[in-house]
Amino acid sequence: MKNVTSYIKTHKNRFINELIELLKIPSVSADSAHNQDVLNTADFVKRSLEKAGCDKVELCETPGYPIIYAEKIIDKNLPTVLVYGHYDVQPADPINLWDSPPFEPVIKKTDTHPEGAIFARGACDDKGQMYMHVKAIEFMISSGELPCNVKFMIEGEEEVGSESLSWFVPRNKEKLANDIILISDTGMIANDIPSITTGLRGLSYVEVEVTGPNRDLHSGLYGGAVANPINILTKMIASLHDENNHITIPGFYDNVEELSSDERAEMAKAPFSIENYKKALQIEELYGEKGYSTNERNSIRPTLDVNGIWGGYMGEGAKTVIASKASAKISMRLVPNQEWREITQLFKNHFENIAPKSVSVKVTPHHGGQGYVTPIDNIGYKAASKAYETTFGKIPIPQRSGGSIPIVALFEKELNSKTILMGFGLDSDAIHSPNEHFGIWNYLKGIETIPHFYKNYTELFK
Ligand code: BES
Ligand code: MN
Ligand code: MN
Repeated sequence: MKNVTSYIKTHKNRFINELIELLKIPSVSADSAHNQDVLNTADFVKRSLEKAGCDKVELCETPGYPIIYAEKIIDKNLPTVLVYGHYDVQPADPINLWDSPPFEPVIKKTDTHPEGAIFARGACDDKGQMYMHVKAIEFMISSGELPCNVKFMIEGEEEVGSESLSWFVPRNKEKLANDIILISDTGMIANDIPSITTGLRGLSYVEVEVTGPNRDLHSGLYGGAVANPINILTKMIASLHDENNHITIPGFYDNVEELSSDERAEMAKAPFSIENYKKALQIEELYGEKGYSTNERNSIRPTLDVNGIWGGYMGEGAKTVIASKASAKISMRLVPNQEWREITQLFKNHFENIAPKSVSVKVTPHHGGQGYVTPIDNIGYKAASKAYETTFGKIPIPQRSGGSIPIVALFEKELNSKTILMGFGLDSDAIHSPNEHFGIWNYLKGIETIPHFYKNYTELFK
């Protein structure tokens, strides 16, 4: 496939400019103020797939944001690849921590991206990575190099739990029928250390509220005599980990998959520098569950983290007050075999149990999903591995990620197919954080690698 590099060379500037246009639309699914922007982004994606040469491109209505479906079927006897991605993005705030406005993309050089990176919310997660597939298809169709059938399914609610897609998939099994699912919404180790993501963690996300007295009180008049919901909440949260940083919820670890020492030894071979890791985050010492390495802690082990906590007086200066309520948002990252609904229930029971009688607690589950592990002995993984080997000149390392794409487990259940996670982002690309970016080199490398996957997969399928 020698033409792909020359095609990219010729069209490089256009590819970058198109992505910049896409990144200008603030498709924040979590914020209803951006409702129209999310819809406009769906439209952009639809038009881009039409322009890329797909035959059938549809905007599929759902109870929430639309799903863009597209296909190019060349021969029923050839395999079908289903590409999934998302066009929604995380909220940009805190906006004041961005060096340039999140929806006014700029290209800047960095140490990790000497060829430049596009800075914008969604650059890496997932507009940039999703758009690599649109451009790869454009190349394959226009040059007559598309070796098999392709379908696209691009959603607009990934960052808020994929509710509409969970509704859509079981209702459209026939339409979505495929042999393999291909997703670029993860990362790799480094530009000179390619890796393929073989695991995603599951998720259970809950909100808790602790209520004490029926109104905010003078902290002098009442302090010491009534339970302070913020004191209680923080105490309860602190008790969720023991001195070894194990999670204390009864039954939490019951179904956790324990890796064999061989598997752990294999994992430990992946290149990783604790020193660089600490330096990049300006952390003196790392922290985590006793008995596990950093890479294990953030991939094969379940975790519990407070994502936000609030209550009481947070304005300027001091106000002496005992708040009536305190709240927190808590996420639990889960590993294979932990059932997210069961874990949510265990959390709820435990949290209600440990609350002293002097307060009442409310636990509200948000969303969740199952983890996922991709086997590496199937032709999908082999096709991907060989594609990276061709374009990076190195065999990629299989590596489990700590992040979650809950819908992947549902794909397996409903569509009965495996997912290959060909991510081209880097952990340092700051997804979900201020100054998110995506390397131009990574963007173009993705576009170059994807067609090789199609070719390899089609050959191995025979
Ligand atoms: N693309 C990410 C997930 C990801 C990133 C996985 C990097 C592996 C490596 C996705 O958009 C995401 O942010 N998922 C959420 C879960 C979702 C239910 C909101 C997450 O992991 O927090
Ligand atoms: Mn994503
Ligand atoms: Mn995300």
